[in-house]
Amino acid sequence: MADLSIEVDGLKFPNPFVIGSGPPGSNANCINRAFSQGWGGVVCKTIALEADKVNNVAPRYARLRIDGGDPKDKKQIFGFQNIELISDRPFDDWLDDFKKIKDTHPDKVLICSIMEEPRKDAWQEIVERCQEAGVDSFELNLSCPHGLPERRMGMAMGQEPDMVERVCKWVMEVAKVPVWAKMTPNVTNITVPAESAFNAGCQGVAAINTILSVTGVDLETLRPMPTVEGHSIPGGYSCKAVRPIALRMCMEIAQAFPNKTLSGIGGVETGKDAAQFILLGAHTVQVCTGVMLYGYKMVKPMIEELSAFMDKHGFTSIEDFRGKSLEYFTTHANLVELQRAAQVKKSLEKDSDWKGEDFVEQSEALAANTTS
Ligand SMILES: Cc1cc2nc3c(=O)[nH]c(=O)nc-3n(C[C@H](O)[C@H](O)[C@H](O)COP(=O)(O)O)c2cc1C
Repeated sequence: MADLSIEVDGLKFPNPFVIGSGPPGSNANCINRAFSQGWGGVVCKTIALEADKVNNVAPRYARLRIDGGDPKDKKQIFGFQNIELISDRPFDDWLDDFKKIKDTHPDKVLICSIMEEPRKDAWQEIVERCQEAGVDSFELNLSCPHGLPERRMGMAMGQEPDMVERVCKWVMEVAKVPVWAKMTPNVTNITVPAESAFNAGCQGVAAINTILSVTGVDLETLRPMPTVEGHSIPGGYSCKAVRPIALRMCMEIAQAFPNKTLSGIGGVETGKDAAQFILLGAHTVQVCTGVMLYGYKMVKPMIEELSAFMDKHGFTSIEDFRGKSLEYFTTHANLVELQRAAQVKKSLEKDSDWKGEDFVEQSEALAANTTS
């Protein structure tokens, strides 16, 4: 069987499957359960120093289903919106949890997702206290699109390359473990904030967080969803529907920074989905909404499916095929040239009277016909 383990920035993952920050990593019980089921790593729900400033509302999820699909069939859900904030559990409870998790699963990778206001002292305090509690690495949430930007946190930071660089530098001054910056897709060019994170010394980036969205409007009540006391706000879109956008953004990051660490996120539900992120350069692949819909046990079939894919192609390790599909992206002009050349070749192959010296003349005539 193929070897699914991968070492990234000195972190040893038994497999590339990581739980993405969100409800599945809400406390020590959940995280220990995820590790027991076989997940290679877990990113905890994002935490901050002052949990009492976090006020969640309900309902905070909205789902987009295939039209007319059975509402009980989770496979019919292809889009998911949330307006959930970061963890509202006290910071000290989290520190206890980190110690408990590392006592129970010392060999698994515990990634601590953090967010703070744009103050050096706050960012440095949260890093120092969490790493003392034993977390293996950090993911900086510079990307949550709702609620927190009102406090100049999350996406409000991630959309400003200068701010990304400043915050990442504060973190890198005190971090003794690897740091990944989590990117927002709500920008024109995701490689710009990624470059800022790398300039500041971060080892990697994770992409993508959720896409700012309005899932729909209830045609009975005329209220946008999710509806809280008759009102709503735009939220973060995830699940299968975002995967093509996430793949494109990961591809852009991997092409721009081939030697840096990339954790791919967005709409992953199967081993085949994960293989595509790895083919586009990701070292690890995160799953959040998928775990909310299908439970922690989904990692087992994902492992089997990824192994089967690797066996089929003769890949013995993740590094054997990581980034392998990147070379097949080109320019549109080049696609046109390639297609013309292929057509010329095909027509020449058909022509039994073809002589080598006629090649230039024939291909020019064919190209002229193709464009007219
Ligand atoms: C309900 C919910 C809560 C989330 N909370 C966080 C969070 O606290 N921190 C964070 O960095 N990302 C958070 N995310 C974003 C996910 O980690 C992930 O980047 C995004 O949902 C895309 O992946 P997916 O399609 O596998 O869910 C959350 C997503 C959902 C659906």
